[in-house]
Amino acid sequence: MADLMEDPIAGSGAPQEGGKKNHPKKVRIIPESLKRFREIQDAAMAGGPADKVAAQKAKGKLTARERIAYLVDEGTFQELGLLMETRCTDFGVKDKHIKGDGIVTGFGKVNGRLVAVFSEDFTQLGGSLGRIHADKIARLMDMAADARVPVIGILDSGGARIQEGVDSLDGYGEIFWRNTQYSGVVPQISVILGPCAGGAVYSPALTDFVFMAKGISHMFVTGPEVVRAATGEQVDFETLGGAQAHAAKSGVCHFMANSEPDCFRQVKELLSFLPQNRDEFPPAEPTKDPDDRKIVLMERLCGMDPRKPYRVHHVIWWLSDDHKFFEVHRDFAKNIVVGFIRLGGQTVGVVANNPAHMAGALDINASDKAARFIRFLNNFNIPILTLVDVPGYWPGVAQEHGGIIRHGAKILYAYCEATVPKVTLVLRKAYGGAYIAMSSKLMHGDINLSLPSAEIAVMGPRGAIEILYSRQIREAKEEEREELKAKLAKEYSDKFASPYQTASTGSIDEVIEPAQTRQKLIDSFRLLAAKRKPGAHPRGGNIPL
Ligand code: HXC
Repeated sequence: MADLMEDPIAGSGAPQEGGKKNHPKKVRIIPESLKRFREIQDAAMAGGPADKVAAQKAKGKLTARERIAYLVDEGTFQELGLLMETRCTDFGVKDKHIKGDGIVTGFGKVNGRLVAVFSEDFTQLGGSLGRIHADKIARLMDMAADARVPVIGILDSGGARIQEGVDSLDGYGEIFWRNTQYSGVVPQISVILGPCAGGAVYSPALTDFVFMAKGISHMFVTGPEVVRAATGEQVDFETLGGAQAHAAKSGVCHFMANSEPDCFRQVKELLSFLPQNRDEFPPAEPTKDPDDRKIVLMERLCGMDPRKPYRVHHVIWWLSDDHKFFEVHRDFAKNIVVGFIRLGGQTVGVVANNPAHMAGALDINASDKAARFIRFLNNFNIPILTLVDVPGYWPGVAQEHGGIIRHGAKILYAYCEATVPKVTLVLRKAYGGAYIAMSSKLMHGDINLSLPSAEIAVMGPRGAIEILYSRQIREAKEEEREELKAKLAKEYSDKFASPYQTASTGSIDEVIEPAQTRQKLIDSFRLLAAKRKPGAHPRGGNIPL
């Protein structure tokens, strides 16, 4: 009783009754509870055993906490659930009491803006996903959705924790459900920095963007051993599921980095273009680049042979603020180019046919790539700039049997459902169904512009005259046939292969002076800035998949 009556902070240096100061003692006694707290905290923060940390480093990888430090602003990370422990009691895990359960979760700031981060710790049970590990991710995602901030997941894991059996599979279910519920609510970004195998790959696949680093990241549903046993194919980790394979072939990876620091630099850059959630608009970034900067390149484009290839990146660089273009899916389906720029300080998503690759024609992969990007932009209030130079859909049995009808329809669907401001500029060719698909007027493009050099027609001159004048061409003397074709093609071009017929029907709003393109685009997006329109499908339509 006497103890309880004593002043609990006596000896701390606090002033005593009557204003007399109690001088601090020289020897500082650390209370037992504080000692214990610090020990527990330090042990938990250390992650896995020293040999596992050394093994991680030997592979050229950062630890889970180092990765967070690269991502968030210094001193801003607030961790949650550090002391949550592995629940598993089987197969030798019982006595390990692994604090944190192989994952670090919390909130931090990236360039001053709040984000939720989880980072799997490969040094603890191989970063495998047990029930507590999954619960930590699920809780974080719920909090991020409530706080309306992006979720960034750093994955480095052996997959479902084998010792926990179905409990760990259920954990994945928890995450997949949330990936889907919060899709289009807050941006979700997956950074793969280690193995990501089996069904575990489907959480990143459900998120908006996947980052991978060369030589470090591997994703596959079944690994090389299973592939060999099942199909007899001999393949190594890198060839099967490395960054290059997923960036260029499967399209699973949107951004490929040379190293982990490079990867986090790219994540930060991506975030700088995005709003925090679907209710906000992307942040503006003031620029000294004049709105009315003349673009001589556009004049040169007008004089170019319609069949000559060029990289549409040059057009995008010249149009954008400070010549900056943050490309998404750079190595996949290069016939279409997508990414972020700013125009007059505002974020804009660009979708552009790329004549340097497959003449810029639309194929299965290009359709998937563009449609997914357009839907992201629409989810997050990002206006869309479409640059058109497209000869049509890519022909061939492989495309037809591969489902170009089904896949090509995705672009149509994505543009038609998008209600964000849509500005379209026809650069050169715009033929047939592909012209309609690329955010044309009747698909509710808001402002449709054209360079004077545009050829907007049902099909290209050569193809058109072969159909329209097949009899005359067939009956012409062989030596006169080419000359006849050239004459007919010119007649067709003069009549149809220009923007003027389309402008006369109102499907092109304005044919513009090429050098003024940047100013025109900035004016157009400013004019549309207040556009607000609910989508046609409050419960989500049925996009062709
Ligand atoms: C439990 C695991 C584990 C797992 C790795 N470890 N994966 N523990 N469950 N799934 C442990 C290892 O036992 C080892 O523990 C430590 O992590 C490091 O693993 P190593 O094998 O030493 O590392 P490394 O040589 O780098 O190989 C990494 C690896 C390999 C390629 C990821 O560990 C591996 O193949 N793991 C199994 C991958 C897998 O098949 N997962 C299940 C996928 S199916 P010690 O104590 O020795 O250090 C799945 C279903 C999800 O995930 C379904 C969702 C719907």
